[in-house]
Amino acid sequence: NWTTGDILEEQVERIRAQVGDARVICGLSGGVDSAVAAALVQRAVGDQLTCVFVDHGLLREGEAEQVERDFVAATGVKLYVANEQERFLKALEGVSDPETKRKIIGREFIRAFEEAERAIIAEAEAHGEKIRFLVQGTLYPDVVESGGGEGAANIKSHHNVGGLPEDLQFELVEPLRTLFKDEVRAVGAQLGLPAEIVGRQPFPGPGLGIRIVGEVTHERLELLRKADAIARAELTAAGLDNEVWQMPVVLLADVRSVGVQGDGRTYGHPIVLRPVSSEDAMTADWSRLPYDLLARISNRITNEVEGVNRVVLDVTSKPPGTIEWE
Ligand code: XMP
Repeated sequence: NWTTGDILEEQVERIRAQVGDARVICGLSGGVDSAVAAALVQRAVGDQLTCVFVDHGLLREGEAEQVERDFVAATGVKLYVANEQERFLKALEGVSDPETKRKIIGREFIRAFEEAERAIIAEAEAHGEKIRFLVQGTLYPDVVESGGGEGAANIKSHHNVGGLPEDLQFELVEPLRTLFKDEVRAVGAQLGLPAEIVGRQPFPGPGLGIRIVGEVTHERLELLRKADAIARAELTAAGLDNEVWQMPVVLLADVRSVGVQGDGRTYGHPIVLRPVSSEDAMTADWSRLPYDLLARISNRITNEVEGVNRVVLDVTSKPPGTIEWE
């Protein structure tokens, strides 16, 4: 009977055998897979690992800090941060079409990551060292699924850190290749990673960029971040994190409706709550959240987030609706 400790030890041994004394690079997305993969490699080979975090400015409240501060504190990894918020905003200027947004974010992400890579390679070479390996957080279900077939990936152009183009200059280290998601979370907890990272619900690579229906701007991101933080905090406070697979919070930036707040008429934007239950994200049902919780979220968002005067609930299953709005 395998324990989490056994899995951890076995992976650490394998990584050591594969990597030897070479140097390794690993991209962090803020998600659980890349975090656990990186923490395993760090446990195995320590400072031979350099992690890269491309901050595209499309993460939720607190998530960049979770990587830059909490993950580093928990693991001691060497972290290279690329602050690319401006770059992504600029590239997304004037763009509303969902697929175009996805392609732009994916393209800029790869470019930014490669620039960071080059900087780290140069630094290593200055010390007479070479980077030989790239860590990827590929899970067992990804291994089974690749080879094609039906999938969300065919409907929308998905992007995540595991989706970087095959970088032929590196050999891959894939310490999660035999693991399922729950095992990855257990290993992460055993490695002492912060609960917010280990328990994080799925979050798309293009981030909040595809949760703003309309053009992505700095102000809209700020607004959505506040609304999302309120919704998440209330869901957690209600003890329902485990009932819900994921709860996208979406800003309908292209829609306005009339409201009344204080002593005046408002003409603001709606926020959509999209809580779903699912097994694998291929199909999903909308979560029957308690009305009291929905009321609290709605009251708080309309009171605390300027520019929002309406909160609506998405009651569509998947299919026909996808989980994300874009
Ligand atoms: P949809 O919207 O297709 O989403 O029903 C299914 C699941 O995939 C997530 N998702 C993504 N994950 N990169 C990712 O890593 C992406 O580009 C992406 N798009 C959607 C979505 O959040 C849901 O869990």
